[in-house]
This record gives sequence, C-alpha cells and structure tokens, in this order.
Amino acid sequence: MTSFTFATAASIRFGAGRSSELAAAVAALGSRPFVCTGSDPSRHERLIDTLPGVATFPVSGEPTMEVVRAGAQAAREHGADVVVGIGGGAVLDAAKIVAALVTNGGDPLDYAEVIGEGRPLAVPCLPFVAVPTTAGTGSEVTANGVVTSTEHRVKVSLRSPSMLARVAIVDPALTLECPPSVTAHAGLDALVQCIEPFVSPFANPLTDGFCREGIRRAGSGLRRAYDDGTDLAARTDVALCSLLSGLALANGKLGAAHGLAGPLGGHLGAPHGALTASVMVEVCEFNLAHGTDAVVARYAEVAALLTGRDDPTALLDWWNESTAELGVPGLAALGLTEDAIAPVAAAAASASSTKGNPVAVTADDLAGILRRSL
Ligand SMILES: NC(=O)c1ccc[n+]([C@@H]2O[C@H](COP(=O)([O-])OP(=O)(O)OC[C@H]3O[C@@H](n4cnc5c(N)ncnc54)[C@H](O)[C@@H]3O)[C@@H](O)[C@H]2O)c1
Repeated sequence: MTSFTFATAASIRFGAGRSSELAAAVAALGSRPFVCTGSDPSRHERLIDTLPGVATFPVSGEPTMEVVRAGAQAAREHGADVVVGIGGGAVLDAAKIVAALVTNGGDPLDYAEVIGEGRPLAVPCLPFVAVPTTAGTGSEVTANGVVTSTEHRVKVSLRSPSMLARVAIVDPALTLECPPSVTAHAGLDALVQCIEPFVSPFANPLTDGFCREGIRRAGSGLRRAYDDGTDLAARTDVALCSLLSGLALANGKLGAAHGLAGPLGGHLGAPHGALTASVMVEVCEFNLAHGTDAVVARYAEVAALLTGRDDPTALLDWWNESTAELGVPGLAALGLTEDAIAPVAAAAASASSTKGNPVAVTADDLAGILRRSL
C-alpha cells in the first residue's frame, strides 16, 4: 500500500532574477533580519543591502559547533526576528541552526543526532529564508542543518519540521560565478541526492517524480555548467536538480554514499560533494551485487535517464567519465588513509542516511566500499 508524508518550505520561488523578491519576503516575516552569509559578505552585498535593520554573520567553510554557538549569540544580541541564509549549503545550514538555537536556547549538542542528546526542538524556530548561491544541496527545502563536531570528527544534523524555510528563493543567476570545482562538487552531490532517494525503499510517488526530473536535468546541465559557468540555461538545469534533490531527500531518504560522506567530512574536511561523488560507484556496485531485481531495475532507470542506455553499467561508466571530466579527486587525493577506514565505516553504519540504503550494510561492508573507492 502506498502511504507517505510530504513536507517542504512554505513557499518556493524558483527562477533567474527571483532574488529581487528577497526584501519583500523578509519584510513580511520580521524587521530585524540576521543574515548568515559566506566568508566574503561583499559577494552578495547587493542583496544584503536591500534589507533594512540587517546584521550579517560570515560563515567560513562548513559550520562547526563553535560557529553556530557564536551565530546564535550574535543573533540574540541583534534582537533578530528573522534569519536569512545567503550562500552555499554550509551557510544555509548554519542559518537554520542559528534560527533554531535563538528560540530554543541551550547548546547545539542538546539537539544533535548521534553524538548529542537528540532532544526535539520544542519551540518553533525563528522564521528562516533560504537563498542558495550554489546548486547542490537542496538545503533550502530540507528540515535539517548539518554541523561539524571537530571534537568527535563527525558531521551531524539537527532536525525538526520547524527548521523548514518559510521562503526558499532559488535564483540560478546567483550561481553564475561559482568556480568550476564548486559547480562540480555541488552538482554531483545534487545528482547523488536524486539517485539515492530513487533507489531507496522509502521512495514514494512524489519523490520519484522529483528524482526523475532532477536526474534528467543533471544529465543535460552539469557538464555544460562546468564547461561554461555563464551558461544560464545549464545553471538553471543544475539549480533545479538541486532543489528537486532537496525535496526528494527530505521526504524519502538517502543511502550509503551520504552515510559515508558525513564521517568522511568530519575526518578529512574535504568538500561534501567530492566525497559523495568519490564513493558513489562502489556504493552502486555493492547495491547492484546484493540488491533485489527491483533495486537493479531502479538503477537501470537512472542509467536510462542519464545516458539513454537502460543498463546499470552505463550509470557506472557515466559516473567514472564525468568525475574525471569534472576534476573530482578520488578518496586518496582527498586525504583518506587506511587507518581512518575503520572509524569512518563504524560511524557511517549508524548514520541516519545509511538507513535509506536499498541493501542493509554493516560497518565491514562500508569499510570494503571505502577500500575499493581508494
Ligand atoms: N541540510 C541539508 O539538507 C544538506 C544537504 C546536503 C548538503 N548539506 C551540507 O551543505 C554543505 C555543502 O554545501 P555546498 O556544496 O553548497 O558548499 P559550500 O557551502 O561549502 O560552498 C562551497 C564554496 O563555494 C563558495 N560559494 C558559494 N556560493 C558561491 C557563489 N555564488 N560564487 C562563488 N563562490 C561561491 C563558498 O564560499 C565555498 O567556498 C555541507 O556542509 C553539507 O553537509 C546540507
């Protein structure tokens, strides 16, 4: 029997130029906006300057526990009544967590999954407006924020339906200046986020539709966006893939590639998308070898959507060619060494993403996937 729940941002505005609607969207939610943005706030100065009463908080790299604690403190001091994230997935996640901590109080570890107490966020978060400037994470429509614990060497989520954005503005024009490496890593992550929910046992008819369109869009746009960053049509394809991937992962589940990427990111500090892309072939091989006929048929459909060939090996070939063409370094180049394999595999075995894998995996299975990916 088909049965599912679907939840997303209250309003999604997609299209080139739509970021001009930011000021009105924010004004409808509050008068003391607190903007999290990247390490170089001048990159989005034009947008930030449209917001009266604004305070900005730069986020460098992927957010740590220390960064989100400092962000929540700064937002309280500003008297923030609405939080805006303008940046990549790292910035959007920091902003979401800040919006949660301001109203709920306490420490991120009170609410964090896996390494924290995992307490529910009992109080609604401050309203959050998401403006992604990379095309890759779909964080603008997901109900979790990822944060790194440098102490535990792992990335974990805070998760709550009230972390969903009140408004998500996805303007592909904001991604035009993304350098090729960011385009590649983020875009491949979006594609993995469309493939994993599609082969997951938690797939449902809504997420299936999003995944199919997202996979098609990545197939047509990703290499073009990498080759020519100014190609707005290609950028639009990848931004749509990213948005659809967020809708899919938030309402279906991910899989072992993302289960591994969390602890790999905590250990290596390498770009999230490069990590998911680097383990994808071996995760697919494992699932094809151990999965049911239905799982194999799902991979064949992914291959057909991407390459026109209804054969899972076409997906593996496409992946190897594309990661080479997009300059994605392998796991060894990203810093993985033999001694890190066992702790990364053990952490990945208990990661929430791994539970969406179409085949049950043990820590030993995950260690094998890592070794073969090296
Ligand atoms: N919450 C979720 O649902 C979810 C899903 C997937 C990934 N994530 C998280 O998202 C993060 C990865 O996000 P990402 O791939 O967007 O990378 P990122 O946010 O780390 O950004 C990558 C780099 O691109 C730069 N950048 C951003 N926008 C730019 C622009 N328009 N022009 C030029 N440079 C720009 C940033 O300054 C940064 O140096 C990870 O922390 C990952 O864990 C969260």
